Amino acid sequence: MRARNERASKGEGTGLVTLVGGGPSDPALLTLAGQAALAEADVVLADRLGPVAALADLPEHVEVVDVSKIPYGRSTAQEEIHRLLIEHARAGRRVVRLKGGDSFVFGRGGEEVEACQAAGVATRVIPGVTSAVSAPELAGIPVTHRGVSQGFTVVSGHVPPGHPTSTVDWSALARSGVTVVVLMGMRNLSRIAEALVDGGLDPATPAAVVADAARPSQRVVRATVAAIAEQAQEAGVGAPAVTVVGAVAALGA
Ligand SMILES: C[S@@+](CC[C@H](N)C(=O)[O-])C[C@H]1O[C@@H](n2cnc3c(N)ncnc32)[C@H](O)[C@@H]1O
Repeated sequence: MRARNERASKGEGTGLVTLVGGGPSDPALLTLAGQAALAEADVVLADRLGPVAALADLPEHVEVVDVSKIPYGRSTAQEEIHRLLIEHARAGRRVVRLKGGDSFVFGRGGEEVEACQAAGVATRVIPGVTSAVSAPELAGIPVTHRGVSQGFTVVSGHVPPGHPTSTVDWSALARSGVTVVVLMGMRNLSRIAEALVDGGLDPATPAAVVADAARPSQRVVRATVAAIAEQAQEAGVGAPAVTVVGAVAALGA
């Protein structure tokens, strides 16, 4: 049976590429549809931020390929991932592309679907539990809360504010009145916090960093937005982490 939110498209090859959003790391947060796709896979291309523990339960004949991208370090080129997906599917295999969180939230899942479709390879997408919401949640922080925050914005902090390639309007976010959730922002956290305060956000606004969410090593650092970068650094907390800025970050402490 096909999951309700699952999206499928037809291709010419005999194989199939299934993008599985694996959730933030704990296999218990992998969806039933994701588990079913893994159980039927011939080949799995996996990321390091996904539920890697789930790979241990796969039958021996299943080929597992590590295509992790280490931030600012060793990584598998995106084109190589496309090539592998297409090659395996064209050989008639059921390919699972297992990712952390949700494939379409900073997961390059859209690019992989496009590459497969351009090659005539059939794809389907199984949504996952994104860290943008689940990491705060696992620290007791709701990204929205009646009377506190009427919305949230998820942004990448990979490119620092003020960088020529940055397209994020940090001052607009500072004035937005909604919760700001930053992924991939640890390296640039002090610049991000500074940009928000320069944009008009009260320096006393609560903030929290949730690192290693859904793992036994999960850690949470809470401080004002003005102090969060320094506090996180002092606590030795780094990537992978999600930073939440806004009144909701004071909840669940
Ligand atoms: C390339 S993005 C992938 C996001 C993923 N597709 C999702 O929906 O969660 C990687 C970033 O996600 C966040 N992240 C992923 N897993 C995490 C975890 N277990 N704990 C905290 N942050 C996590 C971090 O901000 C990390 O730098």
